[in-house]
Amino acid sequence: CGIVGYAGHRDALPLLAGGLSNLEYRGYDSAGIALCAGDDVTVYKTVGEVDALRETLPESSEATVGIGHTRWSTHGKPTDGNAHPHTDCTGEIAVVHNGIIDNYDALKAELEAEGHTFASQTDTEVVPHLVEAERAAGKGVKAAFESAVARLEGSFALAMVAGDGEEIYLARRDSPLCVGHGDGETFVGSDVTAFLEHAREVTYLENGDIAVVTPDGITVEHDGTPVERPVERIEWEADAAEKGGYEHYMIKEIHEQPHALRQALSGRVGHGSVDLDVDLPEEYVRSLEEIQVVACGTSHHAGLYAARLLESHADVRTTVHVASEYGFTGGRDPSRTLVVAVTQSGETAETLGALRDAARVGARTLAVTNVVGSSVARAADESLYIRAGPEIGVAATKTFVSQVATLALLAVHVGRERGVLSAAAASELLGDVRGLPGAVQRALDADQQVRDVAEAYADSEAFFFIGRYLGHPVALEGALKLKEISYDHAEGFPAGELKHGPLALVTEETPVIAVLTEGARPDETLNSVKEAESRGAPVIGCHSDGHGEKFIDAAFEVPALGEMEPLVANVYMQLFAYHVANRKGRAIDKPRNLAKSVTVE
Ligand code: G6P
Repeated sequence: CGIVGYAGHRDALPLLAGGLSNLEYRGYDSAGIALCAGDDVTVYKTVGEVDALRETLPESSEATVGIGHTRWSTHGKPTDGNAHPHTDCTGEIAVVHNGIIDNYDALKAELEAEGHTFASQTDTEVVPHLVEAERAAGKGVKAAFESAVARLEGSFALAMVAGDGEEIYLARRDSPLCVGHGDGETFVGSDVTAFLEHAREVTYLENGDIAVVTPDGITVEHDGTPVERPVERIEWEADAAEKGGYEHYMIKEIHEQPHALRQALSGRVGHGSVDLDVDLPEEYVRSLEEIQVVACGTSHHAGLYAARLLESHADVRTTVHVASEYGFTGGRDPSRTLVVAVTQSGETAETLGALRDAARVGARTLAVTNVVGSSVARAADESLYIRAGPEIGVAATKTFVSQVATLALLAVHVGRERGVLSAAAASELLGDVRGLPGAVQRALDADQQVRDVAEAYADSEAFFFIGRYLGHPVALEGALKLKEISYDHAEGFPAGELKHGPLALVTEETPVIAVLTEGARPDETLNSVKEAESRGAPVIGCHSDGHGEKFIDAAFEVPALGEMEPLVANVYMQLFAYHVANRKGRAIDKPRNLAKSVTVE
């Protein structure tokens, strides 16, 4: 999602609308603006893109202070009512929010018991009501905002306006916010693209900061103590700023993976249990005979990874189908079959078709997707969102790891409900899943090393990716990434199959990239590595615990993380693909012949 704000001397309306258009690449389900004029705030909001909002806006306004938002749904469907800003009962407080408030259910129940009425299904709406309650208890606006923020659990960037005030109140925890300093005017953005054409002197808020924005600048407090945050000058142009200073969306999205993972896990992981907010009755889960995953492309690889986890932790037979090859006539008992459609966009025609076929014969259906309100989400009985945020690069990156992490939580849920996964075993798997953001960050920190290796091998004839068990889908995904964006010949194999054919292609000119981590049977995979090595192929290994080190020409280290280790190997492969393609000057974000979302069969 995107946040904008303005406090100054000009009409806030066109500036906020312009900021929202700049941020539209971050989400476009719905958009809204709140203006401070008179005692109340005036709110305009609508489902759809910023252009749809513009049609509801007046030409100009008297307001010189306001906030705005463009939304990527995580809670509640994209509707007018769920669009931000959200207000309190009095209509004096308006709030926009990025991120997830984990304890909103409990807060909402408490506020409703006190007589507050809610107009939306969002987590955000608890914030204006909390502020209202604190004000009713006698606090000033700033103190009320601070008290409200102190009660929130989760990750958020918040901006609030109140009545005819000329301040904007900001709070940041795990979700970025920055402020642009103009001449007698101050801009707010979830990133600098919101206001870059107006202000280039920027202050970034830190986690835990609470700030008050006025036309003259900002004051920031941290733990109740005033702090100074530096002002930096941004030299990027808007195009680069949208990419967070990275050269391509793809590399930006690769680097967003720790954040995407935190969002996927936020509020869902307990001690030995998970809370997924999907309606799968225990009796039904216990009766399950089979889970069938349907998906295409990268989502299919995520499904292959997840199927192993579902079989081993939930003790349920799980088959994975390329959606275009799916055929389920209900021959087995459809009422005891759960069909899971894994799809980033929720719009892939073949995945949607497969899901509908399954529903037609009586199977229960679950969508695992990034897009709330997408066609697959609407067609499925239940939806589980991966919360990765918008992905713009055609080649899927952050959504793969978010899909697998979310499906790992599903495996724990199903395993616990079926009584086949002990709390201790669940805790162990969940501990590994929770360790992903940090471990992925360590791989990202080695970007320069991966780049050097990629550039050294970029001109090879072909690339072969191998792995076993959980390393197999990662090998397939590694090869897919490389072929998609570099146009080089790349293939992924189960490591054991190398000797049954592909080995004939292996030469000194064909690097072999191997997954040598836990969860990928490293010792057995090493046999395949040796076969390749003895034919003169350079071997690149993503390895943990020193597996196979002495047979590897280039080694990428994976921290200890049990069955999640192959996902970290995947991050190295993404970086490798990116740097090979970038060296060749490929159109990385929009590779030839490919589309982000394929809505034809
Ligand atoms: C297209 C994209 C792939 C993606 C596949 C499935 O082919 O180019 O990157 O993996 O569709 O998309 P979905 O949105 O269903 O995950």
